[in-house]
Amino acid sequence: MTQEEQIEKTKIFVKETLKNAEGGHDWFHILRVFNNCSLISEKEEVDAFVVKLGALLHDIADSKFHNGDETVGPKLARDFLNIIQVEKEVVDHVIQIIENISYNSSLDPSKTFKSPELDVIQDADRLDALGAIGIARTFNYGGFKNRAIYNPDILPDLNMSKEAYKKSTAPTINHFYEKLLLLKDLMNTKTGKQIAAERHEFMEQYLEQFYAEWEGEK
Ligand code: ADP
Ligand code: NI
Repeated sequence: MTQEEQIEKTKIFVKETLKNAEGGHDWFHILRVFNNCSLISEKEEVDAFVVKLGALLHDIADSKFHNGDETVGPKLARDFLNIIQVEKEVVDHVIQIIENISYNSSLDPSKTFKSPELDVIQDADRLDALGAIGIARTFNYGGFKNRAIYNPDILPDLNMSKEAYKKSTAPTINHFYEKLLLLKDLMNTKTGKQIAAERHEFMEQYLEQFYAEWEGEK
């Protein structure tokens, strides 16, 4: 099988596996991340095949939707890549990417794996958490978890532990302060930083308008 054929088979597998996924972590999220990767990769020295496979498989079994189990995704991806006969070195790299891409992993000092390909996919994934799409995904996830949109009496908690954060039932607006507005300073690549800055600005404007409307001012 050629690499192009392996990519096509992976797309079909991911689309099928995510057919009932939550709206912010579905096939179209994967496709946006895949496309963001092409844009970011233009200015980076990366192995395009590893980036494409990593982007397609990065959320194949997100632990949020698997009782916190972080081993399901990597195992599913490895088994699939072996079936389509991707070479071992590439499989190992893609699995390392899947294990290290998440926001929590990036804050975990015990996780030390780094690669230019991970940098690109992580930026591409973070860009999809920002801007207009990021806002839509965040409220969709909040609705999926039956969270309030906003509650002025429940303030964002920037020091929550990873465990507490996973169980948090805080209003969705808090997620902007607990994570989304922090992302622009965590970007890895030049292109990622530029786009993140623009999307960050848009979210700041959105929040300003949100509070004005909340108070009945505009
Ligand atoms: P990562 O895989 O980088 O850890 P996540 O999958 O946790 O990122 O988050 C992706 C998107 O899902 C977020 O940007 C947000 O839109 C939504 N999301 C995740 N957790 C929450 C939350 N606690 N409240 C609202 N939205 C959330
Ligand atoms: Ni993702």
